[in-house]
Amino acid sequence: MKYVNLMQTRSWNILKNHFDIMKNVHLRDLFLLDSNRFKKFSIYFENEILVDFSKNRITENTLKYLLDLAQEMNVKQAIQSMFSGEKINETENRSVLHIALRNRQNSPIFVDNYNIMFEVNHVLKKMKDFSESVITGKWKGYTGKSISDIINIGIGGSDLGPYMVTEALRPYKNHLNIHYVSNIDGTHLAEVLKKINPETTIFLIASKTFTTEETITNANSSKIWFLRYSKDKSSLDKHFFALSANIQNALDFGINIKNIFQFWDWVGGRFSLWSSAGLSIILSIGFKNFEKFLNGAHSMDNHFYNSEYKKNIPIILALISIWYANFFGSETEAIFPYDQYMHRFSAYFQQSNMESNGKSVDKKGQKISYQTGPIIWGEPGTNGQHAFFQLIHQGTKLIPSDFIVPIISHNHLKNHHIKLICNFLAQTKALAFGTAEKSFAKESTFFKKNIKNFNQIDKNFLFKECIGNQPTNSILIRKITPYNLGALIALYEHKIFVQGHLLNIFSFDQWGVELGKILAKNIYKNFSNIENDQVLDSSTQGLISFYKSFHK
Ligand code: F6P
Repeated sequence: MKYVNLMQTRSWNILKNHFDIMKNVHLRDLFLLDSNRFKKFSIYFENEILVDFSKNRITENTLKYLLDLAQEMNVKQAIQSMFSGEKINETENRSVLHIALRNRQNSPIFVDNYNIMFEVNHVLKKMKDFSESVITGKWKGYTGKSISDIINIGIGGSDLGPYMVTEALRPYKNHLNIHYVSNIDGTHLAEVLKKINPETTIFLIASKTFTTEETITNANSSKIWFLRYSKDKSSLDKHFFALSANIQNALDFGINIKNIFQFWDWVGGRFSLWSSAGLSIILSIGFKNFEKFLNGAHSMDNHFYNSEYKKNIPIILALISIWYANFFGSETEAIFPYDQYMHRFSAYFQQSNMESNGKSVDKKGQKISYQTGPIIWGEPGTNGQHAFFQLIHQGTKLIPSDFIVPIISHNHLKNHHIKLICNFLAQTKALAFGTAEKSFAKESTFFKKNIKNFNQIDKNFLFKECIGNQPTNSILIRKITPYNLGALIALYEHKIFVQGHLLNIFSFDQWGVELGKILAKNIYKNFSNIENDQVLDSSTQGLISFYKSFHK
């Protein structure tokens, strides 16, 4: 497929002229002018998810021009390339097929003329059998006891996704305690080891490459700790497992071949929770729920693959992101899940989006002159309202944000959920319309008390006014179930894919993370006499000297 620079498209120039008009239009006016906005700018996914994108600074013309851009950029063709197994991860010469991991219709998908569904199904069956034996207590540790605790040792995509999903689906978890250790800071592992019994604990070494320093260091320390109790290497076979694409390294570490749950190079680390990297999810919620999770993602894959542009949720959300980043100049995107179980949801998409689209060279290797991937951030609502919402309401930054909320809660404490919903609704309303919205004036005692009529300016009004015009997407989900969470994650994955395609960048490599790893290894290797290293900059030298002054 030919690479297209979006700034050289016809649609881009139309959008540029259109932006000159739209940049000064307020959401208040857009809603006053058209009482049908919600109807026109909302899409239902099955009867489970509603995406309301009406509180965006767009008109029907904006949407038309954006959709024209998607067509001109051959988005549909790019989707077909990914789904068909084309090696679109060109710099690593790999396919990108996390969709195959949840390909529930089991249609053949070929990589190098081999139908990968055979391997996918083989590993799924292996995980089903293993998880059932652990959950039922059939699997025994080296002293014959059933398993009570699972420690997933991994980082980045080998940690964030499984952790986020097991937290988001806590209402579905069983008796097993699942722990996640990722940081090389010994505290992370030490704190978990204090809580567990080696006789009843399973260690999952989750690492696609099985070379990641943090993970291998934590895995080695865990093995040493464990052997101090079991005093017998053969006991590792009952307690240590590898979730990896690098079989040889896992074997060299001492993992029994039977204990290796393989995934493949066509699964990106940050998209690997659907694969054996997600074994901790299965151990937490059971295989049946994991299948529902896969089913939800697969259904969203079908929506993404088959829906026409104007009804395609990931395409529309990606276009809206481009609208703000590349025309309005926004630099971040916020994700606010109004659901405490989803407290790691935004963190997960920091890696998924920023490691995918944090690039500055296009597919031809040319330096990019336009904004690329946004900074992703966010915390659960309503907590964010008491932390950083002030800046969104009255700061100087344009911050497009997604508000996500379940309609039905898993916990039924009187009035809690309705109050959560009211905050969710109030925040998107306030961000859109600000304090000048007529209904606010009527409803607000503040205005009644301080301003005799709406036009009279109270001396503090200027400090209290919220301008509004901050765009939001509202995503309402019937309930956070395995199916719906799977669909929601897939929705965001595909949005990220479309954003990257439109930005004409390679979204599936991550060369930028290699430099830090190499430098860390070099500093570590030479640490003992590093002061004599003339190449070292004075800052690093000074920092090391200060560190060493405490470690004589
Ligand atoms: O951050 C770099 C990275 O390679 C991520 O892309 C990946 O998810 C993480 O490190 C862990 O890699 P691995 O699963 O190979 O240990």
